[in-house]
Amino acid sequence: MSRSAHPAGPRHADVLPEGHYTAPPADLNSLDPRVWAQTVERTPEGAVAVGGLDVRRLAEEFGTPAYVMDETDFRARCRAWRDAFGPDADVYYAGKAFLSRAVVRWLHEEGLNLDVCSGGELATALDAGMPAERIALHGNNKSDEEIERAVEAGVGRIVLDSFQEIARVAHTAARLGRRQPVQIRVTVGVEAHTHEFIATAHEDQKFGLALAGGGSSGAGEGPAAEAVRRVLMLDSLELTGIHSHIGSQIFDMAGFEVSARRVVGLLTRVRDEHGVELPEIDLGGGLGIAYTPEDDPREPHEIAKALGDIVTRECEAAGLAVPRLSVEPGRAIAGPTAFTLYEVGTLKELEGLRTYVSVDGGMSDNIRTALYDAEYSVALVSRASAAEPMLSRVVGKHCESGDIVVRDAFLPADLAPGDLLAVPATGAYCRSMASNYNHALRPPVVAVRDGQARTIVRRETEEDLLRLDVG
Ligand SMILES: Cc1ncc(COP(=O)(O)O)c(C=O)c1O
Repeated sequence: MSRSAHPAGPRHADVLPEGHYTAPPADLNSLDPRVWAQTVERTPEGAVAVGGLDVRRLAEEFGTPAYVMDETDFRARCRAWRDAFGPDADVYYAGKAFLSRAVVRWLHEEGLNLDVCSGGELATALDAGMPAERIALHGNNKSDEEIERAVEAGVGRIVLDSFQEIARVAHTAARLGRRQPVQIRVTVGVEAHTHEFIATAHEDQKFGLALAGGGSSGAGEGPAAEAVRRVLMLDSLELTGIHSHIGSQIFDMAGFEVSARRVVGLLTRVRDEHGVELPEIDLGGGLGIAYTPEDDPREPHEIAKALGDIVTRECEAAGLAVPRLSVEPGRAIAGPTAFTLYEVGTLKELEGLRTYVSVDGGMSDNIRTALYDAEYSVALVSRASAAEPMLSRVVGKHCESGDIVVRDAFLPADLAPGDLLAVPATGAYCRSMASNYNHALRPPVVAVRDGQARTIVRRETEEDLLRLDVG
């Protein structure tokens, strides 16, 4: 992200303070379609609408802060991923991005599978009617109860993450008289983030079993090969494939290329050593989205083609039949479909620096800025404004100076208490990572579609908080 001054000079400073921002848009009222959900538009009156509903009406009916999710966009993204990968591949939506019963129903109806990584996510999926065979269970420390519930329900895939887990799942499946389909999660020595990736021989992280152990393919005598050996010896486990997930917010396909090559290296080794050709390969999630207009993610069909070509090429080179591919996008489906609606409470102008704009939420509903230094954009949505741009920092109401929602943004200089702001691209890892810090009440998720709005996750109440406080 570049640093530059607004040619006309922003309101506060001729020399802009340290920060990550580009020049303000020519029109502060414009809504860049790269960061806003599909049905978001500015109405002739100047306010913003989504799914045909004015945000002022949504704020009145549902309160603020609130996550507003464009159901039309969510469903369209599901279809785009499903159609891009076609009938010979599977798309597992990563429920950690955001999961609720309504979302499970949308996924089911739109033909997606679901990746869950906890007992709570599994319970939500099953409760909302996702067929168990379309569920994959992840996690680096699944409890015995979680394993038992998954095997009992008949989930289509458990992704094994450690040697202990191989034994636990095998034991549970044998006790329940089942043969459980499993994949082995491997770490391929690739760390990918946005436009960069690093390919290494070893990985220092908690997930998966390392391929590394020698050989140019990276698929040497590492723990992953040993895991394959052990799983193949257990009658209650059916090894269907190898799983790899290399990072998050990835735009560059090169990391997947190294990952696929190394996974195919293991598949080749399994064939040579055990005479078994594993029929599945899962390359995980991590595909990036636009949080600000500077981000330029690829479309699902481009990603599907790139990944399909990589896997086909690597398998053909190794003389293997091309396995069934699956992917696990979370952010790329849910992220762009929602914005968080806030009300401005106070404004504090720091002469020569910027204006701190405090909203009625903060790090309890969006921890990503504080946690990852994530960048977001923001817009005034309750009205249009012709005022000059004002360098702003949108902050929350929590007792932390790091309680920042949008670090650097230009908002109109006539911004006032009571105005509504919206932060786009908050559909993933915001509600799902929300907390009760300062006993904040977690905001509702409001789904909007064709002129109708409904709460799909209700706002927490003080009663909810006090119900858990049993001392
Ligand atoms: C195994 C696995 N699959 C999929 C995902 C989803 O990633 P994203 O939401 O970035 O697509 C994650 C994220 O942590 C993951 O660990």
